[in-house]
Amino acid sequence: MADILPEREALSRAVELLRAGEAIAIPTETVYGLAADATNGEAVARIYETKGRPQFNPLIAHVADRAMAERIAVFNPLARLLADAFWPGPLTLVLPHRAGSGVHPLVTAGLDTIALRCPKGFGARVIEALGRPVAAPSANSSGRISGTTAEAVEADLGARIPLIVDGGPTPVGLESTIVKVEENGITLLRPGGVAADEIERVTGMALMRGAKGVQAPGMLASHYAPNAHMRLGVAEVKPGEALLAFGPQRVAGAERAVAMRNLSESGEMREAAANLFSHLLALDRSGAATIAVEPVPLEGLGEAINDRLARAAAPRDR
Ligand code: TXA
Ligand code: MG
Repeated sequence: MADILPEREALSRAVELLRAGEAIAIPTETVYGLAADATNGEAVARIYETKGRPQFNPLIAHVADRAMAERIAVFNPLARLLADAFWPGPLTLVLPHRAGSGVHPLVTAGLDTIALRCPKGFGARVIEALGRPVAAPSANSSGRISGTTAEAVEADLGARIPLIVDGGPTPVGLESTIVKVEENGITLLRPGGVAADEIERVTGMALMRGAKGVQAPGMLASHYAPNAHMRLGVAEVKPGEALLAFGPQRVAGAERAVAMRNLSESGEMREAAANLFSHLLALDRSGAATIAVEPVPLEGLGEAINDRLARAAAPRDR
């Protein structure tokens, strides 16, 4: 069972667990977050495992301050204006991700943009003490409502995490507003803790809401799509194909693959999840027209891995 510690006693234990690659619950002003070191792929995989999320949606990387944010993403003047006005606070900015930021690709689900937020209070302190960004979706299992008290988090996730930091009921009580900031405009991706008209007042610009209304976050359009075709669950590698392998055993014809990456030699799901997006990207960059993918079992994180592979393989228009 999780230890529950009040904020004022929890900082060093929280940092120690994050550094060790654990996922823990921390209070933010919006909802409790299930937090892990955003630079550690296996720690991030643990978030999905703990939530029982069947999909790898991109996660918000939480930062301690603007300096940390600007090392991770490219801020244009509009993004600076929004950060000045609303950080720390319940506004998440989707911005171009800087190469070499150190944030693990499982956080961005392989996208070239990244969602950043600077929380108030304990969240910011723990990130500052850790010295690294923290990935944190709401602290609830998949399909349950977001935890806004330590008790709610305990009832839902208490058996699966080592620590819940109790900061009392969260003041905002719903998730942050997410906007995508581009050169010439701001698109509302998810309504939340900052009202759209507050953002419009600060920027003097109308928010775009996307051609098809508010974009459901984490849907097809916001996922990494390789240039290569994908063949899933293959029994054999065909000439010219690259191979995304899983586990100790190879399918027929593996030796002729033009490039190969193994998600996990030992067949370990958390390792496979941590490797998924970086390996896909590497095989895509090999230039092979098709990436053949060995079967990945559906157990545990395998469900999310298979979901992502299916989305990456889905036909698309471009
Ligand atoms: O208030 C909050 O935002 C809470 C607290 C813990 O900070 N966090 C939270 O995270 O709600 P989560 O993972 O439940 O929601 C993050 C949303 C996802 O639905 C995801 O699709 C979207 O942000 N997102 C993340 N990165 C994105 C990107 N690069 N482009 C578009 N959407 C993105
Ligand atoms: Mg959530």
